[in-house]
This record gives sequence, structure tokens and C-alpha cells, in this order.
Amino acid sequence: MALKIIKWSDDYKTGIRIIDNDHRQLFELTEALGVCAERGEGRKRMGEIIDRLVNYANEHFVREEQFMATCGFPDYEAHVAEHRRATEEIYGIRHLFRADADGLDAMKVAQFFAHWLAEHIRHRDQRYVPYVRGDDDAMADGPPVSIRTPAEASATRLLETVSVEVPGDRAELVRVAARILAAGGAPAEKLGEILDKLASRSPSEKRLEAIAARYRRHH
Ligand SMILES: [Fe+2]
Ligand SMILES: [Fe+2]
Repeated sequence: MALKIIKWSDDYKTGIRIIDNDHRQLFELTEALGVCAERGEGRKRMGEIIDRLVNYANEHFVREEQFMATCGFPDYEAHVAEHRRATEEIYGIRHLFRADADGLDAMKVAQFFAHWLAEHIRHRDQRYVPYVRGDDDAMADGPPVSIRTPAEASATRLLETVSVEVPGDRAELVRVAARILAAGGAPAEKLGEILDKLASRSPSEKRLEAIAARYRRHH
């Protein structure tokens, strides 16, 4: 049975090495999940791949968002919103997996994520490329690029790099919190309030049900 999962190809190239490397890794992890599902490999291996996918996707989103923020990409908010929706989806998937590994159709998950990745790169990521490429030596073989420096750039928030130790399986939560807080605005304020009250973060029941309906295995 041929695995029907979209793979990395040069069509997805942005010309920014670190981003292309991330995208390639994400396609590979997604494919690994599909292979794992097809071979009916054990829960442990599948859990590892899902964890790596969650972690790597988060890491990549943070990287891209930093790039976009640095070069004043004008469509930043919409792009970040798409990252957030995908993040929510994969968190939900992992939650389902942990609650009932056998009930999760991992092949559907792999197909969803590969498809999401392909569409997102083509329609979203490619748009920031001209803004970011000014910082990359891919410039050498590309057209002249002007780097936008919006008025707000002078008002950029003072960002600080924080190094903390957290349990490995919680590292991505810290990255998500950092990303929201760094972006500022209403969401950052809201998160600050929540963190102040030391509330725990859990996916809403309604959202989980919708995700479960999409990836449930039908016997
Ligand atoms: Fe991306
Ligand atoms: Fe993106």
C-alpha cells in the first residue's frame, strides 16, 4: 500500500535555509507518523513522534514569527492566527492520543498535517519570504528586496531571552506562553492575568470534541 502523504519537494522551497530545513523536518516527521500508523507500530513510538511533531512545530512557528516581527511583515497577525489554529489542533490530537491511543486514527492525523503544511507554506509562508530574505544570503541570487521598516518598529517592545528548566514534556507550553507574551496586545494581557492567577491551561471541551470527531478511528 502506497503511503498517500504529501512529501517535501522543491516546490515548497522558500530559499531561507533555516526555514526550509524546518519545513523538511516537519514533512519528514509527518511521514514518519504515517508510516508508523500504516505498520501498526506501538503506542510508545507513536507517542514519541507526536511529541516531536508538537515540539518541532512550536519551535518552527516561534522562529517564523520572530522573523516576521523583525522585518515588519504586514500580515503578521493573520499568519500567527493560522499558526495558533494549527497548534490547537495538534495539542488536541496529542490530548486524544494520551487519553485513548487506539481510538486515534494516526493516518488521518498525518494526512491532515501534511496537507496543512503544504497549503500553509504555499499560501502563507511564501508571502513573508521577500521581507525576510533581506537578512539571508539567499539574497545573492534573488531579486533586489526592500526591507520594510514600519513606523511601529521604533516602538518595538524590549524583549528578553529567558532560560529556565522545565520538564521536557512541558517545554512547548513555555514556548507558547513566551510567544503570546512577546506578541503583546490583548492576548498577552489576558495570558498575564491568567498566569497571575496560576490557572492551568486545558483545551476546551467543545474544541476537543470537534478534534476527536475528525480523527477518531472508525472500526
Ligand atoms: Fe512555516
Ligand atoms: Fe507559517
